[in-house]
Amino acid sequence: PPAPASDRYDLAVVGAGIAGLTAALTAAAQGARVLVAAKGPILASASYHAQGGVAAAVGADDAPRLHFRDTIAAGRGLCRESAVRVLTEDAAARIEDLRALGVRFDDEPGLEGGHSRRRVLHVDGADTGRRISETLARHVLAHPAIDLAERERVTALEPGEGFRTERREVRATATVLAAGGCAALWARTTNPLGSLGEGIALAYCAGAAVADLEFVQFHPTALRGSGFLLSEALRGEGALLLDEEGRRFTDELAPRDVVARAVAERGTVLLDLRPIDRDRFPSLMRRLVEAGHDPALDPVPIAPAAHYTMGGVVTDVDGRTEVPGLYAAGECACTGVHGANRLASNSLLECLVFGRRAALAALAGSGASGPAAASGRESPPDGMGVVDDDVRRAVWEHAGLVRDEAGLVRLRDSPALLARLVAECALARRESRGGHFRADYPHEDTGLAGVHTVLRPGRPPALE
Ligand code: SIN
Repeated sequence: PPAPASDRYDLAVVGAGIAGLTAALTAAAQGARVLVAAKGPILASASYHAQGGVAAAVGADDAPRLHFRDTIAAGRGLCRESAVRVLTEDAAARIEDLRALGVRFDDEPGLEGGHSRRRVLHVDGADTGRRISETLARHVLAHPAIDLAERERVTALEPGEGFRTERREVRATATVLAAGGCAALWARTTNPLGSLGEGIALAYCAGAAVADLEFVQFHPTALRGSGFLLSEALRGEGALLLDEEGRRFTDELAPRDVVARAVAERGTVLLDLRPIDRDRFPSLMRRLVEAGHDPALDPVPIAPAAHYTMGGVVTDVDGRTEVPGLYAAGECACTGVHGANRLASNSLLECLVFGRRAALAALAGSGASGPAAASGRESPPDGMGVVDDDVRRAVWEHAGLVRDEAGLVRLRDSPALLARLVAECALARRESRGGHFRADYPHEDTGLAGVHTVLRPGRPPALE
Protein backbone atom coordinates (compact mmCIF):
# COMPACT_ATOMS: atom_id res chain seq x y z
CA PRO A 1 0.00 0.00 0.00
CA PRO A 2 1.17 3.59 -0.58
CA ALA A 3 2.83 5.22 2.42
CA PRO A 4 0.18 7.16 4.31
CA ALA A 5 0.83 10.85 4.53
CA SER A 6 -1.05 12.88 7.07
CA ASP A 7 0.92 16.00 8.07
CA ARG A 8 0.50 15.41 11.73
CA TYR A 9 -1.17 12.66 13.70
CA ASP A 10 -2.74 13.00 17.12
CA LEU A 11 -1.32 9.60 17.98
CA ALA A 12 1.32 7.38 16.41
CA VAL A 13 1.45 3.76 17.52
CA VAL A 14 4.58 1.65 17.07
CA GLY A 15 3.61 -2.01 16.74
CA ALA A 16 0.59 -3.87 15.42
CA GLY A 17 0.05 -6.51 18.07
CA ILE A 18 -3.01 -6.55 20.28
CA ALA A 19 -1.79 -3.62 22.43
CA GLY A 20 -1.05 -1.44 19.41
CA LEU A 21 -4.27 -2.22 17.56
CA THR A 22 -6.28 -1.65 20.74
CA ALA A 23 -4.57 1.71 21.29
CA ALA A 24 -5.27 2.74 17.70
CA LEU A 25 -8.96 1.79 17.81
CA THR A 26 -9.42 3.47 21.20
CA ALA A 27 -7.88 6.73 19.99
CA ALA A 28 -9.76 6.71 16.69
CA ALA A 29 -13.04 6.19 18.58
CA GLN A 30 -12.24 9.46 20.39
CA GLY A 31 -11.95 11.27 17.05
CA ALA A 32 -8.14 11.19 16.82
CA ARG A 33 -6.09 10.79 13.64
CA VAL A 34 -3.88 7.78 14.15
CA LEU A 35 -0.93 6.11 12.45
CA VAL A 36 0.06 2.52 13.19
CA ALA A 37 3.62 1.70 12.11
CA ALA A 38 4.81 -1.91 12.19
CA LYS A 39 8.12 -3.31 11.08
CA GLY A 40 6.39 -6.36 9.62
CA PRO A 41 2.95 -7.16 8.22
CA ILE A 42 -0.04 -6.42 10.44
CA LEU A 43 -0.64 -10.10 11.17
CA ALA A 44 2.84 -11.17 12.24
CA SER A 45 3.05 -10.04 15.86
CA ALA A 46 3.75 -12.11 18.95
CA SER A 47 0.09 -11.50 19.87
CA TYR A 48 -0.96 -13.08 16.59
CA HIS A 49 0.98 -16.22 17.50
CA ALA A 50 -0.26 -16.36 21.10
CA GLN A 51 -1.93 -19.67 21.90
CA GLY A 52 -2.87 -18.87 25.46
CA GLY A 53 -6.12 -17.14 26.19
CA VAL A 54 -7.23 -14.00 27.95
CA ALA A 55 -7.49 -14.29 31.73
CA ALA A 56 -10.58 -12.55 33.12
CA ALA A 57 -12.64 -13.18 36.25
CA VAL A 58 -15.97 -13.61 34.48
CA GLY A 59 -17.17 -16.92 35.98
CA ALA A 60 -19.90 -17.14 38.63
CA ASP A 61 -17.36 -18.54 41.13
CA ASP A 62 -14.76 -15.88 40.36
CA ALA A 63 -14.03 -12.25 41.21
CA PRO A 64 -11.35 -9.67 40.26
CA ARG A 65 -9.97 -9.90 43.81
CA LEU A 66 -9.24 -13.63 43.30
CA HIS A 67 -7.53 -12.92 39.97
CA PHE A 68 -5.61 -10.12 41.75
CA ARG A 69 -4.51 -12.52 44.48
CA ASP A 70 -3.29 -15.15 41.99
CA THR A 71 -1.39 -12.55 39.93
CA ILE A 72 0.33 -11.15 43.01
CA ALA A 73 1.27 -14.65 44.20
CA ALA A 74 2.84 -15.56 40.82
CA GLY A 75 4.78 -12.26 40.77
CA ARG A 76 6.83 -13.26 43.83
CA GLY A 77 6.84 -10.00 45.74
CA LEU A 78 7.53 -7.75 42.78
CA CYS A 79 4.10 -6.84 41.35
CA ARG A 80 2.88 -3.27 41.59
CA GLU A 81 -0.46 -3.68 43.31
CA SER A 82 -2.09 -0.60 41.72
CA ALA A 83 -1.34 -2.00 38.25
CA VAL A 84 -2.62 -5.47 39.12
CA ARG A 85 -5.80 -3.95 40.50
CA VAL A 86 -6.40 -2.08 37.26
CA LEU A 87 -5.62 -5.18 35.20
CA THR A 88 -7.98 -7.46 37.04
CA GLU A 89 -10.80 -4.94 37.52
CA ASP A 90 -10.82 -3.77 33.88
CA ALA A 91 -10.72 -7.32 32.50
CA ALA A 92 -14.43 -8.03 32.17
CA ALA A 93 -15.09 -4.74 30.36
CA ARG A 94 -12.31 -5.42 27.85
CA ILE A 95 -13.77 -8.89 27.16
CA GLU A 96 -17.10 -7.21 26.45
CA ASP A 97 -15.35 -4.78 24.06
CA LEU A 98 -13.96 -7.73 22.13
CA ARG A 99 -17.33 -9.46 21.99
CA ALA A 100 -18.84 -6.23 20.64
CA LEU A 101 -16.19 -6.21 17.90
CA GLY A 102 -17.16 -9.77 16.95
CA VAL A 103 -14.78 -12.05 18.89
CA ARG A 104 -16.54 -15.28 19.87
CA PHE A 105 -14.95 -16.91 22.89
CA ASP A 106 -15.23 -20.67 23.48
CA ASP A 107 -17.93 -21.65 25.98
CA GLU A 108 -15.84 -23.20 28.71
CA PRO A 109 -13.02 -21.08 30.25
CA GLY A 110 -9.76 -23.02 30.72
CA LEU A 111 -7.47 -23.55 33.70
CA GLU A 112 -3.77 -22.69 33.63
CA GLY A 113 -0.94 -22.72 36.17
CA GLY A 114 -1.31 -20.38 39.13
CA HIS A 115 -5.00 -19.64 38.51
CA SER A 116 -7.33 -20.66 41.33
CA ARG A 117 -10.34 -20.60 39.00
CA ARG A 118 -11.17 -21.55 35.41
CA ARG A 119 -10.81 -18.07 33.95
CA VAL A 120 -8.79 -18.35 30.75
CA LEU A 121 -10.96 -17.47 27.79
CA HIS A 122 -9.96 -19.01 24.47
CA VAL A 123 -11.07 -18.62 20.90
CA ASP A 124 -11.05 -21.85 18.88
CA GLY A 125 -8.86 -23.69 21.40
CA ALA A 126 -5.31 -22.42 20.99
CA ASP A 127 -6.01 -19.87 18.21
CA THR A 128 -6.88 -17.04 20.60
CA GLY A 129 -4.16 -14.57 19.62
CA ARG A 130 -4.75 -15.11 15.93
CA ARG A 131 -8.51 -14.65 16.13
CA ILE A 132 -8.37 -11.52 18.30
CA SER A 133 -5.61 -9.99 16.15
CA GLU A 134 -7.59 -10.68 12.97
CA THR A 135 -10.70 -9.04 14.40
CA LEU A 136 -8.86 -5.95 15.62
CA ALA A 137 -6.94 -5.67 12.34
CA ARG A 138 -10.16 -5.83 10.36
CA HIS A 139 -11.55 -2.88 12.32
CA VAL A 140 -8.28 -0.93 12.05
CA LEU A 141 -8.11 -1.45 8.28
CA ALA A 142 -11.71 -0.32 7.89
CA HIS A 143 -11.35 2.80 10.04
CA PRO A 144 -11.06 6.00 8.01
CA ALA A 145 -9.07 7.83 10.73
CA ILE A 146 -6.34 5.16 11.02
CA ASP A 147 -3.42 4.93 8.59
CA LEU A 148 -1.34 1.79 8.59
CA ALA A 149 2.34 1.67 7.63
CA GLU A 150 3.40 -1.96 7.41
CA ARG A 151 7.02 -3.03 6.96
CA GLU A 152 8.21 0.35 8.14
CA ARG A 153 10.84 0.27 10.87
CA VAL A 154 11.10 3.08 13.41
CA THR A 155 14.74 4.15 13.80
CA ALA A 156 14.53 6.89 16.46
CA LEU A 157 11.91 8.50 18.69
CA GLU A 158 11.44 12.24 18.95
CA PRO A 159 9.03 12.37 21.88
CA GLY A 160 6.36 15.03 21.55
CA GLU A 161 7.24 15.34 17.86
CA GLY A 162 6.85 11.80 16.57
CA PHE A 163 9.59 9.55 15.22
CA ARG A 164 11.83 8.77 12.30
CA THR A 165 11.51 5.64 10.23
CA GLU A 166 13.95 4.33 7.66
CA ARG A 167 11.82 6.20 5.07
CA ARG A 168 10.53 9.45 6.58
CA GLU A 169 9.74 11.61 9.57
CA VAL A 170 6.37 10.98 11.18
CA ARG A 171 4.86 13.91 13.07
CA ALA A 172 2.61 13.02 15.99
CA THR A 173 1.62 14.77 19.19
CA ALA A 174 1.99 11.57 21.20
CA THR A 175 3.49 8.15 20.58
CA VAL A 176 2.44 4.82 22.08
CA LEU A 177 5.11 2.15 21.92
CA ALA A 178 3.52 -1.28 21.62
CA ALA A 179 6.42 -3.04 19.96
CA GLY A 180 6.59 -6.24 22.01
CA GLY A 181 9.23 -7.95 24.09
CA CYS A 182 12.71 -9.32 23.48
CA ALA A 183 12.43 -13.10 24.01
CA ALA A 184 13.88 -13.75 20.53
CA LEU A 185 17.24 -12.50 21.84
CA TRP A 186 17.53 -15.99 23.35
CA ALA A 187 18.62 -18.77 20.99
CA ARG A 188 15.65 -20.89 22.01
CA THR A 189 12.41 -18.95 21.95
CA THR A 190 8.71 -19.46 21.39
CA ASN A 191 8.48 -15.96 19.87
CA PRO A 192 8.60 -14.80 16.28
CA LEU A 193 12.25 -14.05 15.48
CA GLY A 194 11.45 -10.34 15.25
CA SER A 195 10.80 -10.09 19.02
CA LEU A 196 14.07 -8.29 19.67
CA GLY A 197 12.88 -5.53 21.98
CA GLU A 198 13.39 -2.67 19.55
CA GLY A 199 10.71 -0.61 21.29
CA ILE A 200 12.51 -0.98 24.61
CA ALA A 201 15.81 0.02 23.00
CA LEU A 202 14.22 3.03 21.26
CA ALA A 203 12.65 4.26 24.50
CA TYR A 204 15.91 3.84 26.40
CA CYS A 205 17.84 5.75 23.74
CA ALA A 206 15.22 8.51 23.97
CA GLY A 207 15.87 8.86 27.70
CA ALA A 208 13.15 6.65 29.20
CA ALA A 209 13.79 4.43 32.21
CA VAL A 210 13.62 0.67 31.63
CA ALA A 211 13.29 -1.86 34.44
CA ASP A 212 13.31 -5.50 35.48
CA LEU A 213 14.86 -6.84 32.26
CA GLU A 214 16.43 -9.71 34.23
CA PHE A 215 12.97 -11.23 34.50
CA VAL A 216 12.35 -13.27 31.39
CA GLN A 217 9.84 -16.06 31.49
CA PHE A 218 10.95 -19.41 30.12
CA HIS A 219 8.04 -21.48 28.92
CA PRO A 220 8.50 -25.09 30.06
CA THR A 221 6.98 -26.79 27.05
CA ALA A 222 8.26 -25.89 23.60
CA LEU A 223 8.57 -28.85 21.25
CA ARG A 224 12.19 -29.99 21.61
CA GLY A 225 14.39 -28.74 18.78
CA SER A 226 11.96 -26.01 17.74
CA GLY A 227 10.23 -22.95 19.11
CA PHE A 228 6.81 -24.51 18.61
CA LEU A 229 4.85 -23.85 21.79
CA LEU A 230 2.77 -26.57 23.40
CA SER A 231 0.33 -24.41 25.29
CA GLU A 232 -0.02 -24.56 29.04
CA ALA A 233 -3.73 -25.06 28.36
CA LEU A 234 -2.81 -28.68 27.54
CA ARG A 235 -1.50 -29.17 31.08
CA GLY A 236 -4.58 -27.35 32.34
CA GLU A 237 -6.64 -30.10 30.72
CA GLY A 238 -4.52 -32.88 32.26
CA ALA A 239 -1.44 -33.38 30.06
CA LEU A 240 1.46 -34.80 32.12
CA LEU A 241 5.17 -34.10 32.25
CA LEU A 242 7.21 -37.32 32.32
CA ASP A 243 10.92 -38.02 32.73
CA GLU A 244 12.89 -40.52 30.65
CA GLU A 245 11.52 -43.39 32.75
CA GLY A 246 7.94 -42.26 32.23
CA ARG A 247 7.60 -40.89 35.79
CA ARG A 248 5.99 -37.59 36.78
CA PHE A 249 8.46 -35.28 38.53
CA THR A 250 6.67 -31.97 39.12
CA ASP A 251 3.27 -30.37 39.59
CA GLU A 252 2.31 -29.58 36.00
CA LEU A 253 0.42 -26.47 37.11
CA ALA A 254 3.03 -24.99 39.42
CA PRO A 255 4.27 -21.49 38.45
CA ARG A 256 6.11 -21.44 35.12
CA ASP A 257 9.51 -20.57 36.55
CA VAL A 258 9.33 -23.61 38.85
CA VAL A 259 8.18 -26.00 36.10
CA ALA A 260 10.71 -24.64 33.57
CA ARG A 261 13.65 -25.18 35.94
CA ALA A 262 12.39 -28.65 36.88
CA VAL A 263 12.23 -29.53 33.16
CA ALA A 264 15.68 -28.05 32.47
CA GLU A 265 17.18 -30.05 35.37
CA ARG A 266 15.81 -33.33 33.98
CA GLY A 267 17.19 -32.75 30.46
CA THR A 268 15.00 -35.22 28.61
CA VAL A 269 11.33 -34.59 29.28
CA LEU A 270 8.14 -35.69 27.55
CA LEU A 271 4.67 -34.21 27.49
CA ASP A 272 2.00 -36.89 27.55
CA LEU A 273 -1.11 -35.73 25.70
CA ARG A 274 -2.83 -39.09 25.77
CA PRO A 275 -4.93 -38.34 28.91
CA ILE A 276 -6.62 -35.25 27.44
CA ASP A 277 -9.39 -34.44 25.00
CA ARG A 278 -7.09 -33.59 22.10
CA ASP A 279 -10.00 -32.57 19.89
CA ARG A 280 -10.18 -29.32 21.86
CA PHE A 281 -6.87 -28.28 20.28
CA PRO A 282 -7.23 -29.13 16.60
CA SER A 283 -4.57 -26.82 15.17
CA LEU A 284 -1.99 -27.80 17.80
CA MET A 285 -2.55 -31.49 17.12
CA ARG A 286 -2.34 -30.94 13.37
CA ARG A 287 0.97 -29.14 13.72
CA LEU A 288 2.36 -31.89 15.93
CA VAL A 289 1.47 -34.49 13.33
CA GLU A 290 3.10 -32.30 10.65
CA ALA A 291 6.23 -32.25 12.82
CA GLY A 292 6.27 -36.07 12.80
CA HIS A 293 4.64 -36.86 16.16
CA ASP A 294 1.55 -38.89 16.95
CA PRO A 295 0.30 -37.50 20.28
CA ALA A 296 -2.35 -40.23 20.51
CA LEU A 297 0.35 -42.89 20.60
CA ASP A 298 3.44 -41.36 22.23
CA PRO A 299 4.39 -38.53 24.58
CA VAL A 300 6.22 -35.75 22.72
CA PRO A 301 9.69 -34.40 23.65
CA ILE A 302 9.77 -30.87 25.05
CA ALA A 303 12.27 -28.32 26.39
CA PRO A 304 12.04 -24.81 27.87
CA ALA A 305 12.36 -21.74 25.62
CA ALA A 306 12.38 -17.98 26.28
CA HIS A 307 8.80 -16.80 26.09
CA TYR A 308 8.03 -13.45 27.68
CA THR A 309 9.76 -10.25 28.86
CA MET A 310 8.38 -9.21 32.26
CA GLY A 311 10.44 -6.00 32.33
CA GLY A 312 10.46 -3.17 29.83
CA VAL A 313 9.85 0.56 29.58
CA VAL A 314 8.79 1.92 32.96
CA THR A 315 5.22 3.24 32.88
CA ASP A 316 2.47 4.21 35.27
CA VAL A 317 -0.97 2.59 35.08
CA ASP A 318 -1.85 4.86 32.14
CA GLY A 319 1.15 3.95 30.03
CA ARG A 320 3.09 7.17 30.72
CA THR A 321 6.84 6.75 30.51
CA GLU A 322 9.30 9.15 32.11
CA VAL A 323 9.51 11.02 28.79
CA PRO A 324 6.71 13.52 28.01
CA GLY A 325 4.73 12.52 24.92
CA LEU A 326 5.94 8.91 25.05
CA TYR A 327 3.70 6.07 26.24
CA ALA A 328 4.16 2.31 26.26
CA ALA A 329 1.79 -0.66 26.53
CA GLY A 330 1.87 -4.42 26.21
CA GLU A 331 4.99 -6.55 26.49
CA CYS A 332 7.45 -3.70 25.86
CA ALA A 333 6.11 -1.88 28.93
CA CYS A 334 6.87 -2.52 32.57
CA THR A 335 3.80 -1.47 34.52
CA GLY A 336 4.88 -3.84 37.29
CA VAL A 337 1.81 -5.97 36.63
CA HIS A 338 3.78 -9.20 36.20
CA GLY A 339 6.40 -8.76 38.90
CA ALA A 340 9.04 -11.48 38.73
CA ASN A 341 6.86 -14.05 36.98
CA ARG A 342 3.83 -13.45 34.77
CA LEU A 343 0.70 -15.45 35.42
CA ALA A 344 -0.38 -17.40 32.33
CA SER A 345 -2.74 -15.55 29.96
CA ASN A 346 -2.36 -12.20 31.71
CA SER A 347 -0.41 -10.86 28.74
CA LEU A 348 -3.17 -10.58 26.14
CA LEU A 349 -5.29 -9.06 28.89
CA GLU A 350 -2.52 -6.57 29.60
CA CYS A 351 -2.48 -5.57 25.92
CA LEU A 352 -6.22 -4.86 25.99
CA VAL A 353 -6.30 -3.04 29.32
CA PHE A 354 -3.14 -0.94 29.02
CA GLY A 355 -3.33 -0.43 25.24
CA ARG A 356 -6.62 1.32 25.84
CA ARG A 357 -5.48 3.28 28.89
CA ALA A 358 -2.28 4.45 27.19
CA ALA A 359 -4.22 5.74 24.19
CA LEU A 360 -6.65 7.67 26.39
CA ALA A 361 -3.83 9.18 28.46
CA ALA A 362 -1.88 10.06 25.31
CA LEU A 363 -4.85 11.96 23.90
CA ALA A 364 -5.36 13.74 27.22
CA GLY A 365 -1.67 14.69 27.02
CA SER A 366 -1.18 14.42 30.73
CA GLY A 367 2.63 14.51 30.82
CA ALA A 368 5.36 12.21 32.05
CA SER A 369 5.10 9.75 34.93
CA GLY A 370 8.50 10.15 36.42
CA PRO A 371 10.70 12.76 37.92
CA ALA A 372 9.74 15.70 35.67
CA ALA A 373 11.19 14.56 32.38
CA ALA A 374 13.69 12.45 30.52
CA SER A 375 16.89 11.67 32.32
CA GLY A 376 19.07 12.13 29.26
CA ARG A 377 19.68 10.58 25.91
CA GLU A 378 22.08 7.83 24.98
CA SER A 379 24.45 9.86 22.93
CA PRO A 380 24.54 9.12 20.10
CA PRO A 381 21.52 6.74 20.11
CA ASP A 382 23.15 3.45 19.21
CA GLY A 383 19.99 1.57 18.24
CA MET A 384 19.80 -2.17 18.68
CA GLY A 385 23.33 -3.09 17.71
CA VAL A 386 24.02 -6.45 16.09
CA VAL A 387 21.72 -9.39 16.87
CA ASP A 388 23.02 -12.50 15.11
CA ASP A 389 23.10 -16.20 15.99
CA ASP A 390 26.28 -15.76 18.05
CA VAL A 391 24.56 -13.09 20.17
CA ARG A 392 21.47 -15.22 20.60
CA ARG A 393 23.55 -18.23 21.68
CA ALA A 394 25.48 -16.04 24.14
CA VAL A 395 22.25 -14.68 25.64
CA TRP A 396 20.95 -18.23 26.04
CA GLU A 397 24.19 -19.37 27.63
CA HIS A 398 24.79 -16.42 29.95
CA ALA A 399 21.27 -15.20 30.76
CA GLY A 400 19.36 -18.49 30.48
CA LEU A 401 17.33 -20.29 33.14
CA VAL A 402 20.35 -20.25 35.47
CA ARG A 403 22.82 -17.34 35.45
CA ASP A 404 25.89 -16.28 37.38
CA GLU A 405 28.15 -13.30 37.65
CA ALA A 406 30.92 -14.60 35.36
CA GLY A 407 28.55 -15.23 32.44
CA LEU A 408 26.65 -11.99 32.91
CA VAL A 409 29.87 -9.98 32.96
CA ARG A 410 30.73 -11.50 29.58
CA LEU A 411 27.27 -10.69 28.25
CA ARG A 412 27.71 -7.08 29.31
CA ASP A 413 30.13 -6.72 26.37
CA SER A 414 27.57 -7.95 23.82
CA PRO A 415 27.25 -5.98 20.57
CA ALA A 416 23.45 -5.98 21.11
CA LEU A 417 22.13 -3.14 23.27
CA LEU A 418 19.27 -5.15 24.78
CA ALA A 419 21.57 -8.05 25.69
CA ARG A 420 23.77 -5.57 27.56
CA LEU A 421 20.77 -4.11 29.38
CA VAL A 422 19.56 -7.60 30.36
CA ALA A 423 23.05 -8.37 31.70
CA GLU A 424 23.17 -5.08 33.66
CA CYS A 425 19.83 -5.80 35.32
CA ALA A 426 20.69 -9.44 36.05
CA LEU A 427 24.03 -8.48 37.57
CA ALA A 428 22.43 -5.84 39.76
CA ARG A 429 19.91 -8.28 41.24
CA ARG A 430 21.92 -10.44 43.59
CA GLU A 431 19.23 -12.92 44.49
CA SER A 432 16.95 -15.48 42.80
CA ARG A 433 13.31 -14.63 42.32
CA GLY A 434 10.71 -15.78 39.78
CA GLY A 435 12.18 -15.83 36.28
CA HIS A 436 15.62 -14.71 37.49
CA PHE A 437 17.74 -17.53 38.97
CA ARG A 438 21.34 -16.82 39.96
CA ALA A 439 23.45 -19.91 40.74
CA ASP A 440 25.68 -17.65 42.87
CA TYR A 441 22.71 -16.17 44.79
CA PRO A 442 20.22 -19.06 44.78
CA HIS A 443 17.81 -17.67 47.40
CA GLU A 444 15.22 -14.94 47.52
CA ASP A 445 16.43 -11.90 49.47
CA THR A 446 13.46 -10.58 51.43
CA GLY A 447 15.09 -7.14 51.41
CA LEU A 448 14.63 -7.03 47.63
CA ALA A 449 10.88 -7.67 47.60
CA GLY A 450 9.20 -4.73 45.89
CA VAL A 451 12.55 -3.43 44.65
CA HIS A 452 12.94 -2.94 40.88
CA THR A 453 16.12 -2.82 38.81
CA VAL A 454 15.99 0.44 36.88
CA LEU A 455 18.28 1.56 34.05
CA ARG A 456 18.49 5.08 32.66
CA PRO A 457 20.91 6.09 29.93
CA GLY A 458 24.18 7.44 31.22
CA ARG A 459 23.54 6.29 34.80
CA PRO A 460 24.50 3.20 36.78
CA PRO A 461 21.73 0.64 37.49
CA ALA A 462 19.49 1.68 40.38
CA LEU A 463 17.49 -0.52 42.75
CA GLU A 464 14.26 1.43 43.37
C1 SIN B 1 0.55 -20.85 26.63
O1 SIN B 1 -0.42 -21.07 25.92
O2 SIN B 1 1.07 -21.70 27.32
C2 SIN B 1 1.11 -19.48 26.64
C3 SIN B 1 0.17 -18.56 27.24
C4 SIN B 1 0.85 -17.48 27.99
O3 SIN B 1 2.05 -17.31 27.84
O4 SIN B 1 0.19 -16.82 28.78
